[in-house]
Amino acid sequence: MLLITICVGSSCSLRGSDELAMELQKLIKKEQLEGLVDIVGAFCMDLCSKGVSVRVGDAQFSGIKPEQAEEFFYKEIISRADRKLLSRNPD
Ligand code: FES
Repeated sequence: MLLITICVGSSCSLRGSDELAMELQKLIKKEQLEGLVDIVGAFCMDLCSKGVSVRVGDAQFSGIKPEQAEEFFYKEIISRADRKLLSRNPD
C-alpha cells in the first residue's frame, strides 16, 4: 500500500488541501489504484509557509496546489505505485 498523507492543518486547509485530496482521489479511481494507493489526513507537518504539504510514502513535498494535482499524481505518485505493484506481483 502506498500511502499519501495530506496535511489538513489550518494553513494547508486554507491553501486547498481538501480540494487536492479530492482531485487525487479521483485520479486514484481513474487509474484503478484503489487498494494500492490510499489517502489519509495528517495534522500540521511544520511546513506551513510553503503551501499544502504532502507525503508520498517517505517522500515529503510542499507547496502543492490543487490545480497541480494531475501533474503531481503522474509525476510523483504513479511511479511509486508501480513499484509497489511490481514488488507485490514480481512475475
Ligand atoms: S498546516 Fe500544513 S504544514 Fe502546517
